[in-house]
Amino acid sequence: MFGKIATVVAMTVMVMALMVVQETNAARILMAVPIGTRSHGNFYMPLAEELARRNHTVTYVTGYEKSSSHPNIRVVVVPDVNIFDKMPNLFTTDRFTAIGAIYNDMKEVCIKALSHEAVQRLNDEKFDLVILYLALTECFLSFAHKLKVPFIYVNPNKLLGAYAAAAGSPPFPSLDASYMLDLEYPLTFTGRMMSTAQDLLDVLFHNWVFIPSLDDECRARKLCPEDMPYLGELRYNGSLFITNSVRTMEKPTLPYTPTLVHAGGIHCRPAKPLPEDLQQWIAGAGEPGFIFFSLGTLIKSSDLPDKYLKVLVEVLGSLQQRVLWKWDKETMESLPPNVRLVKWVPQQDILGHPQLRLFITHGGLFSTQEATYHGVPILGIPVAIDQHYNMRKVQKEGWGHVLYWEDLTYDNLRGHILQLMDDKRILDEVHQRSRLMRDQPMSPADWATYWVEYVLKHQGASHLRSPAVYIPWYQLYNADVWALLVVTTMLTTSLMSWLSFRILRALIRWCCASRKTKKE
Ligand SMILES: *[C@@H]1O[C@H](CO)[C@@H](O)[C@H](O)[C@H]1NC(C)=O
Ligand SMILES: *[C@@H]1O[C@H](CO)[C@@H](O)[C@H](O)[C@H]1NC(C)=O
Repeated sequence: MFGKIATVVAMTVMVMALMVVQETNAARILMAVPIGTRSHGNFYMPLAEELARRNHTVTYVTGYEKSSSHPNIRVVVVPDVNIFDKMPNLFTTDRFTAIGAIYNDMKEVCIKALSHEAVQRLNDEKFDLVILYLALTECFLSFAHKLKVPFIYVNPNKLLGAYAAAAGSPPFPSLDASYMLDLEYPLTFTGRMMSTAQDLLDVLFHNWVFIPSLDDECRARKLCPEDMPYLGELRYNGSLFITNSVRTMEKPTLPYTPTLVHAGGIHCRPAKPLPEDLQQWIAGAGEPGFIFFSLGTLIKSSDLPDKYLKVLVEVLGSLQQRVLWKWDKETMESLPPNVRLVKWVPQQDILGHPQLRLFITHGGLFSTQEATYHGVPILGIPVAIDQHYNMRKVQKEGWGHVLYWEDLTYDNLRGHILQLMDDKRILDEVHQRSRLMRDQPMSPADWATYWVEYVLKHQGASHLRSPAVYIPWYQLYNADVWALLVVTTMLTTSLMSWLSFRILRALIRWCCASRKTKKE
């Protein structure tokens, strides 16, 4: 009898203890990612969802209208801060000008998002952790400071030079050039020069222009508290840098510090059945299969110049395959019968469809990752930002082709399409890459969440941080040591040459002098 009561009591205590543990484990997380492209959400949301699934509550601050996908996720929408939506026509503006347009507005847009009343209201709440976008959102670090909690960066692309330095994972401009440069590995001497200069400019811009002015503005507007350390220092204290790159597939492979967490392809998932009418239309394509054509979300169909549109329509209409074309208008003039326009599609359900033969894309990072995951060869026609770089890489890795808009002609486009659908080497390569991408010890979502919880458990886990973040650059790269070595070597060699010259001259004189004496 007593035994039974004791067991019941013990069990009750255990259950209560478990509940207490769960309660303390469930954290309140502020995920501040209001600025960026719509597709960046592909990277943030799966992480928020995994955290929510593990009983954490996530307050997701976004710039895009979104409904909550889990009861533990509360969506806070900040309207009108999408600088990427205001990008100029990407077909007629060059890449650097388009990016430059963003740089101009970076500060204003961060302040605007931070001062929005829905965001300001969050000041009255408690959070245990702040997660924020690595770029463009630095003024949100004020939350981490006010709350005295650790913060984690999320980055929907690979880490660029200036940010790799902030992560204490020294960048290697000799191996890895910024995607803005559209260079491929291995870099030539000129390539390394450009890559070094780009990294340096990036660091200088951040450290001397952007961060100081953002810090000033934020304090002047009373959005950042007076006792907050300088943003330029505070930003180095990120506990983790969760980045969108598959570590085992990076080329060249690079060394990283443990604060750098690779969660590349976190949004990739197996295909689900398509809506019935779309499924039937695809089935109707029969043996030749179908092609999917999408220029992503950043590029507006209406920006596509008529001369390109004409070629695309002619070529796609000439194919045996059916073509599913993501296009943001209802219809177009002289639409060929084998082409179907869709405003939106569940892209991964299309890419995972067994009848898909080819993906024609702008070459955005998310699209190339999804194509890899689902093992689909791609033809990339890059438009802006990192797309040239992504596609050049794909072509080099041997599972797709790149075609530039300038080279877009009927024969060229048709040639690439036909070649890609029938090239067995390309298919083998893309299938192999798909297997590589899926072969990871944990899913990217589990991996990233593991580390987020690690930071929560270990009060910010500052022991993971590399000292490279804090020591001056000349110490990190031993520049002072090298300088001393070079100067000493130069001094010693000059001294030696001078001495040798004097000795030689003395010897010659002595020699000639003694000959003269012999003659006499
Ligand atoms: C989340 O909470 C529920 C209900 O309290 C519990 O049953 C479940 O095990 C928890 N999940 C995790 C991952 O802690
Ligand atoms: C950064 O973190 C370190 C270690 O946790 C701490 O000593 C330092 O004060 C922090 N710096 C700032 C500017 O918050």
